[in-house]
Amino acid sequence: MFSSEVKDLFQSKETPFYHYDLAVLDSTLNCVKSLADKFNFDIHYAVKANANERLLTIISNMGFGADCVSGNEVRRAIDIGFSADKILFAGVGKTDKELRFALENNIKAFNCESIQEIDVLNALAEESSQIAEIALRINPNVDAKTHKYITTGLDENKFGINQIDLPIIVEKLKGLKHIKLTGLHFHIGSQITDMNVFKGLCLRVNEIQNWFCDHGIEILHLNLGGGLGINYLKPDDEWLPDFETYFAIFNEFLDRKANQQVHFELGRSIVAQCGNLITRVLYIKNGVNTNFAIVDAGMTELMRPALYQSYHQIDNLTGEGEIREYDVVGPICESTDCFGKSVKLPETKRGDLIAIRSAGAYGEVMVSRYNLRDQNAPLYTE
Ligand code: LLP
Repeated sequence: MFSSEVKDLFQSKETPFYHYDLAVLDSTLNCVKSLADKFNFDIHYAVKANANERLLTIISNMGFGADCVSGNEVRRAIDIGFSADKILFAGVGKTDKELRFALENNIKAFNCESIQEIDVLNALAEESSQIAEIALRINPNVDAKTHKYITTGLDENKFGINQIDLPIIVEKLKGLKHIKLTGLHFHIGSQITDMNVFKGLCLRVNEIQNWFCDHGIEILHLNLGGGLGINYLKPDDEWLPDFETYFAIFNEFLDRKANQQVHFELGRSIVAQCGNLITRVLYIKNGVNTNFAIVDAGMTELMRPALYQSYHQIDNLTGEGEIREYDVVGPICESTDCFGKSVKLPETKRGDLIAIRSAGAYGEVMVSRYNLRDQNAPLYTE
């Protein structure tokens, strides 16, 4: 996976740092783009997955839109060069300041998640004599069958408008002069690997869309969110997610109306496999039942294992010799600061370079300064 030139580059840098393989990003983007074009789908990259400016510039140059969940993400997307009419703004708790900023910049649409938010947006749009286009983010109560912390489309989740509230909203919208309902938005969760889940989502969306048709409301765009999972277990065997099957399912099962735009907000599937967290072994410590490889990266650099018990493949890039088992842990003062238990690695020594794989999504963006940690600049290779 890593050439000797790339390993030499790693050796010359202070660890830990994120490494981005831009050739992987490029191939992934080309694949998504050609398939999306084939099916006439629009892609709005989910900025939350990785807001690194260099990556965003490459993604924006592909002509994709941006899915943002904060005023600062909207600002970043605009600064990078995403066209405002391809920027969507979602999130359950948008502040007045963020809403005003997005209105000033004439973004494409607000994905509204509560009745009260629609009222506030209407009042703010009135102040600036604008009409805000909105999509209703609806909670479809479809189980994404993924980790419970990244499940968003069940009744128990805070996201989206409940279907029982739809009649009230439709009535209310008649009186709101500064809101125009143009779309419906759904996002049921992330790292979804069971493709049947997406078929179930399509069927539920069709029912909900029919309800709007029956009430004389035309839906100009349908946004199916993100969620396509990646192969964390074997990144080298399958570094390209199965976009083909994913899009084909929506093409087959979604009841798309004439001239209706269909959007996807892919995050992880676009950026996860191009990123690795590179770290060095500080110490080897023999425990009672296990050996610890203590590395210089911690949960502060990659929070996913600590937060979601997630698996990332760990490679020793410089070690040779017999395979042994190590608990690979970081320096942070928390017992959850562990990248993997009983990880099989060639005999590992102080100074070895370690790659924690598939870390391009929800890695760098979730870095924290806990323990007053330093943050090193990423390294890019092509
Ligand atoms: N659209 C909405 C409304 C979202 O909330 C998300 C992700 C996406 C799109 C992009 O989903 P993706 O294609 O990346 O699955 N930090 C967690 C993941 C949180 C996902 C949040 N929402 C993790 O590291 O697994």
